[in-house]
Amino acid sequence: MMQDRSAIHFSFDKVHGFPSGTGNTQAEVFCETRDIVQSVLHGFNGCIMAYGQTGSGKTHTLVGDLSSSADAGLLTRSLSELAREIGRIEDGSTFHVDISVVEIYCEVIKDLLSTNSGGASLAVQQDREYGLIIAGAVKVAVANKGELEALTRQGLARRTVASTCTNAASSRSHCLITLIVQRRLPDGGLMHGKLTLVDLAGSERQDKTRAQGVTFEEGKLINKSLSALGNVVNALADNPSGHIPYRDSKLTRALQDTLGGKARMALIICCSPAASDAAETLSSLRFGARAKGIMTSLQVPSERKAGSSELTQQLAAALQANKQLREEIAERKAAAGQSVTRIPSTHDGRPCGAARQDAGGLEQTSTSLWKPAWLLVVDLLTVACCLVSLHCWLVYYL
Ligand SMILES: Nc1ncnc2c1ncn2[C@@H]1O[C@H](COP(=O)(O)OP(=O)(O)OP(=O)(O)O)[C@@H](O)[C@H]1O
Ligand SMILES: [Mg+2]
Repeated sequence: MMQDRSAIHFSFDKVHGFPSGTGNTQAEVFCETRDIVQSVLHGFNGCIMAYGQTGSGKTHTLVGDLSSSADAGLLTRSLSELAREIGRIEDGSTFHVDISVVEIYCEVIKDLLSTNSGGASLAVQQDREYGLIIAGAVKVAVANKGELEALTRQGLARRTVASTCTNAASSRSHCLITLIVQRRLPDGGLMHGKLTLVDLAGSERQDKTRAQGVTFEEGKLINKSLSALGNVVNALADNPSGHIPYRDSKLTRALQDTLGGKARMALIICCSPAASDAAETLSSLRFGARAKGIMTSLQVPSERKAGSSELTQQLAAALQANKQLREEIAERKAAAGQSVTRIPSTHDGRPCGAARQDAGGLEQTSTSLWKPAWLLVVDLLTVACCLVSLHCWLVYYL
């Protein structure tokens, strides 16, 4: 396909893992999302979503092997990163981290951490502090890796999984694992952030999965909700101020404030290099390319029960986040593009950033067009935050 003159070219931030044996470890994939994880401690909402055909490695990437330090997925690494970052913050803040695990199975939202939900469907609701939430989902405090591992195992053990011809443990539901961070500032103010890992069920073709009966019906609903997600992505990319069909599925409704721009988001496209999967791979890459075209405006964390000093803290956090983004962009200047693509392969333990040279046939052109616009948005928000802070100081003191 790549030698053909009609080859289709895609540009992404990073391409990880190639069949030539030059793949990257889970740790290297995590490097791409580290700054999103860190920003959650400063009140931002973050989202890491894995998309791709069945069996392409979505669950492996996000959850991986919970008991192996080499193969642990982004979830375990995110918690470790949060713990590390909390240790670095020395302003007297105290932190509390909760986890919630829900699945969206056949348009029903189920709490996977609750032992007595009785299978009732939960609803997506607007919350004043956290934005859109799954109302009633159990939140359990998590203090260390061991607790995270136990709770994740407990939740995923309840997740609907089936064996198909393409994946022995195929996820039959979309799973949303959320780490909810509450930060109490030294002056008593509160700041909230959350990191949501979205492990989608994979798109599938019945002729390949040979799914029958319930599994076949599940497959139809999985494809339907993924189509709804595709429609939302298309609508956001084409005309973000027009009608966006979030309410066409529970999945898109639950992800509304993520897709619509209130969160910092990394999309990982998992795809197969096999020639027999070319059609699915192309479709996944097209989805990634469309999603990459969505221009979002990053929301600076808003105050909760804030006095003027909390506003100042938030301003400092926004400036800190701005600084981190600038540093990250400077670091990545040699590389180009903005999303992450992953193809299952072996690992070789190279450092972050090494994947770009291994792109083989895939086009790696720079797509830095949106960077200045994004930076501009961050700058504008920082200026707006300064003005709000100034205003509040004036009101407070005059
Ligand atoms: N990068 C990788 N390295 C090693 N093993 C992998 C990798 N990616 C996937 N696998 C393995 O391939 C199998 C299928 O992966 P996984 O279950 O993560 O797919 P999936 O995309 O979640 O599929 P589904 O949509 O059916 O749930 C698993 O056994 C997993 O461990
Ligand atoms: Mg899966």
